[in-house]
Amino acid sequence: MSINQPINQSTRSPTILFIFGGSGDLTYRKLIPALYNLFIDDYLPAQFLIIGMGRNPFSNASYKTHIKKGVEEFSRRKEDIKSRWKTFSSHVEYYKLDLEQDKTYKTLAAKIKKTEEAWKQKSNVLFYMSVAPQLAPLIATKLYSNKLCNDPNRSRMVFEKPFGHDLESATALNDLLCKMFKEEQIYRIDHYLGKETIQNILALRFANALFEPVWNSKYIDHVQITAAESVSVENRGPYYEQSGALRDMIQNHLLQMLCMIAMEAPVSFGADEIRNKKVDVLNAVRKMRLEEVHYYAVRGQYGSGWIKNKEVSEYRKEKGVAAQSNVETFAAVKLFVDNWRWKDVPFYLRTGKSLNKKETIITVQFKPAPDYAFPEEAGQTWRPNRLTISIQPQMDIRLRFQAKKPGPDMILQPVDMIFSYAAEKDQPEAYETLLEDVIEGNPTLFMRGDQVEAAWRVIKPVMELWKTKVPVDFPNYTPGSWGPEDAEALIAKDGHHWVTLPTIDKIAK
Ligand code: BG6
Repeated sequence: MSINQPINQSTRSPTILFIFGGSGDLTYRKLIPALYNLFIDDYLPAQFLIIGMGRNPFSNASYKTHIKKGVEEFSRRKEDIKSRWKTFSSHVEYYKLDLEQDKTYKTLAAKIKKTEEAWKQKSNVLFYMSVAPQLAPLIATKLYSNKLCNDPNRSRMVFEKPFGHDLESATALNDLLCKMFKEEQIYRIDHYLGKETIQNILALRFANALFEPVWNSKYIDHVQITAAESVSVENRGPYYEQSGALRDMIQNHLLQMLCMIAMEAPVSFGADEIRNKKVDVLNAVRKMRLEEVHYYAVRGQYGSGWIKNKEVSEYRKEKGVAAQSNVETFAAVKLFVDNWRWKDVPFYLRTGKSLNKKETIITVQFKPAPDYAFPEEAGQTWRPNRLTISIQPQMDIRLRFQAKKPGPDMILQPVDMIFSYAAEKDQPEAYETLLEDVIEGNPTLFMRGDQVEAAWRVIKPVMELWKTKVPVDFPNYTPGSWGPEDAEALIAKDGHHWVTLPTIDKIAK
């Protein structure tokens, strides 16, 4: 799967997957439905065991009933549940365990031993940290001291984001892990990298001769990356208070998308090759000086209002949020990648909650073609070429170009050529791709330690300034809008505007 060829089920090593946080939301909504789909598609090894672990007092039977509901609600493959659930769930167990106790890890070691004896062979042992980030170092240390990850070829750990809270904590966590494990054992998840449409950026850029010659500052005017969400922070107030939009989305998902657009061509699809190329991009991002931050970064926080007839409470009144919170629920930044290819091309990134709609798109705006030869009227509809990569929920790639309007006069009109993923039905969810890669031992789509640190380094000045300078205008945008006015100004002062996606029926055919 992902950028690898699928391999036959029987060639996969027997696998035991322990999920810390087995009774949590991520396991319920994403991990188990993804594992179930992998099972249906024959991607799981013939011998596999999933052990959910948590504090909740589930019996094996009640755990299975619980996660079945999650599959019924969130799996993309609901039609087979009746016939396939029983077999799938026979590979699942639940342990109520206290992850702070050493005896927990002795229990895990005994389980591995017993299972391998029954299977009559060694297995791959995977540990998924689906827990609050502050618990991950403790679990990793216990896994190490109890010798559960001794074999670097067979044991792997998966860390959910956030990986650290800032550059210093991420570096400290990396240092701790690197003392105990090999980098190849550490899988740091950024689930955007598992999305089909994001992986397709590599195919678009490097499997076509068309784009590479113009993929540089000579032809590209600017790049925009928008990850807008119409949902509020919902019930995640306490988490969000520690995070904010900059840490939650820009440090990881948006910078990863920027890397896919800006990276140099890899010489192979080897994990390190791809990741080296991405680190190069992050290292080339121009560092802002503190006094420049206000010029390059904008923050916002939603007030109260309405989205599609639904009342939205202001952020400061959400559950678990401080009444005078200064945490940003919107962030926009303008970055430059200081290398030959991208000299002086601005990259505008924006993300936020309670915005107009859910929409993740990347827009590559080309410089205008010279219009000397055309009559003056033609200039009225003159538009530069634009490549729009829609990541979600719409999944397509649109190339806008100028065409002659049919008729006697030379009138031009912009038209879009669209490749739509809608026709490619039944695509794997990001977590399917990523879990399958962990099982297979392919870290290409995971963040290497230096990549995470480089990404923290990019946003560090913004974080520092925002921490010390209290925003004076919060809340400064209404739910259902596209964020604060200053975000418009950030891009408008360069003569541009944020692009949003027209619906397909509005596009000139
Ligand atoms: C998560 C963030 O990483 O990504 C959430 O913590 C956000 O705040 C989510 O809602 C968005 O993911 P997706 O796949 O729905 O775009």
